[in-house]
Amino acid sequence: MNSLTLKYFNETDFLRDDQRADSIFYSNPRFVNHLDSLALSTVENIYARLIPKEADILDLMAGPDSHLKEELVLKSVTGLGLNKDELEANTQLSAIIIHDLNEDYSLPFNNHTFDAVINTVSVDYLIRPVDVFSEVGRVLRPDGIFILLFSNRMFPPKAVKIWKNTLEKDRIDLVKKFITLSEALVVQGYSESKGKPRPEDDKYFKYGIPSDPIYAVWASVKK
Ligand SMILES: C[S@@+](CC[C@H](N)C(=O)[O-])C[C@H]1O[C@@H](n2cnc3c(N)ncnc32)[C@H](O)[C@@H]1O
Repeated sequence: MNSLTLKYFNETDFLRDDQRADSIFYSNPRFVNHLDSLALSTVENIYARLIPKEADILDLMAGPDSHLKEELVLKSVTGLGLNKDELEANTQLSAIIIHDLNEDYSLPFNNHTFDAVINTVSVDYLIRPVDVFSEVGRVLRPDGIFILLFSNRMFPPKAVKIWKNTLEKDRIDLVKKFITLSEALVVQGYSESKGKPRPEDDKYFKYGIPSDPIYAVWASVKK
């Protein structure tokens, strides 16, 4: 943790209940939807609205789906994640990188490689989010955009303590703080989509709970 990060957080904030290597937890592919269909379409709409045309994209912590609409005209989509089977099943990816960000927060790409970096429902698993976000600033082109989307579901043993100890309503501020502390990015906006009726086809519909919330924070490269 760099000294600026230590001013705001404790080392213990980023401990997990399961401290083993992430490659163990993610060794089996999970071909599941982490969100209900309405929340998934919100994710797709946010990416479609914010990602520029003809973009080179990095999907950070990618799984079997990058949530990029078919009609988005993209140049390339690189998926960085931990499970090869999940990444190979992702038909939107043009390149695959297996890389554990909790072992090595540096991103294996040259400076100014991407127009957009996206991160979907995964920020809660990073033990060095500030350092990873500094790297995001480095690999983005000067006019690039970083878009982070998250909900309220998680794999609890792998989520960092500070995420679990922060109320859902305060997690946007937590993500904004990670971004600002990176000193490489500037928050440009945020949004919340919540309280909508859960789709009838969803397995949790019978419990009468709303659709999964979608929180978004996006940032530009600090000039
Ligand atoms: C909840 S899934 C989300 C997958 C995908 N982003 C999506 O929207 O469906 C979390 C993903 O983060 C990746 N991941 C978890 N820990 C990681 C780490 N330390 N380094 C890189 N990727 C990681 C896993 O491979 C997994 O696919």
